[in-house]
Amino acid sequence: MIPKTSGQMGWQSPANIALVKYWGKHPVQLPMNPSVSFVLKESVVRIRMGYSIDPADQFNLNAFTLNGNENPAFADRIADYLRSLAGFFPFLAHARLNITSESTFPHSAGIASSAAAFSALALCICQIDAIIREEPVDDETFFRKASEMARLGSGSACRSVYDGFTLWGETTEVHGSSDEYAIRLDDQFIHKAFSSIRDSVLIVDNSTKKVSSSAGHTLMDQHPYRPARIKQAEMNLIKLLTTLRNGDIQTFGEIIENEALSLHGLMLSSNPGYILMHPHTINILNKIREFRQANQSQVYFTLDAGPNVHLIYPEKETKAVTSLIQNELAGYCQNRQWIDDALGNGPCMI
Ligand code: PMV
Repeated sequence: MIPKTSGQMGWQSPANIALVKYWGKHPVQLPMNPSVSFVLKESVVRIRMGYSIDPADQFNLNAFTLNGNENPAFADRIADYLRSLAGFFPFLAHARLNITSESTFPHSAGIASSAAAFSALALCICQIDAIIREEPVDDETFFRKASEMARLGSGSACRSVYDGFTLWGETTEVHGSSDEYAIRLDDQFIHKAFSSIRDSVLIVDNSTKKVSSSAGHTLMDQHPYRPARIKQAEMNLIKLLTTLRNGDIQTFGEIIENEALSLHGLMLSSNPGYILMHPHTINILNKIREFRQANQSQVYFTLDAGPNVHLIYPEKETKAVTSLIQNELAGYCQNRQWIDDALGNGPCMI
């Protein structure tokens, strides 16, 4: 029975940065290989949702704004997504929704706003469902469901419903891991050396990507290196989990750089091949390696599917990395822009 009801719901959810990359999928939004990421502290999306549910009504997204402006393209994607969830949440077929979305970071900054947004949306819907059902749900069940629902909006979004480090994809290495949803890697998996890890995102180019991530995932279907990539990701996952446990930052750094370069290597060798790195991306990667060598530093890089560079480093190197950025790297960034961020506390209700 769907009750007639109305109310307000809001969740804030973080973006995440993948260390072992999810690249390639099969229906419905299931990953070709397991991936590991951590959520960010400052880069978050806040979704506020006014809802009115009436069995006599049909689903309608009455209004949608993104940072105060209407955004018809994103509104259509969100309406399709919410309509697609009606099979799991029958109330949605009779819901009229007003949604506002705001993000703390610029669009196309090389931080996946869709992961944060779909995570926040899924959390809102799961919470409204819990209110309607009037049945208590334990946290583990609640966040697992939210992760599964977020995955259907954007694969990597399933890793944004927790704090800290997250694993998505089935692996014999971690009990309870699944392709359907992400799980949180709790303290037994994470050495204290990683508890205040930082991510500074260098914005080399913030224009919209020429090839979307979903087109990139599709190109993996027929990719000649597909079987090798699956093996490589599985090996990197095993090695990364070991370093996360034992605090070996150097090996951790070597793995994340290998993952970043391999991701872009897969794009170069797709058919058709394409390049998302900018010449300045490569200049920055070279500078980071030179700096590391000259200073015995523990700053490493990773890349998402785009030209912007994520510098990953322990908190104790913040001062050195800030001067590296100011003196050597900001000149390669669009308008000298970068964003300083760090390991985050996960989503919260607002
Ligand atoms: O979640 P999607 O479909 O936007 O794909 C994300 C892909 C990467 O960001 C490149 C890697 C990842 O694991 O997040």
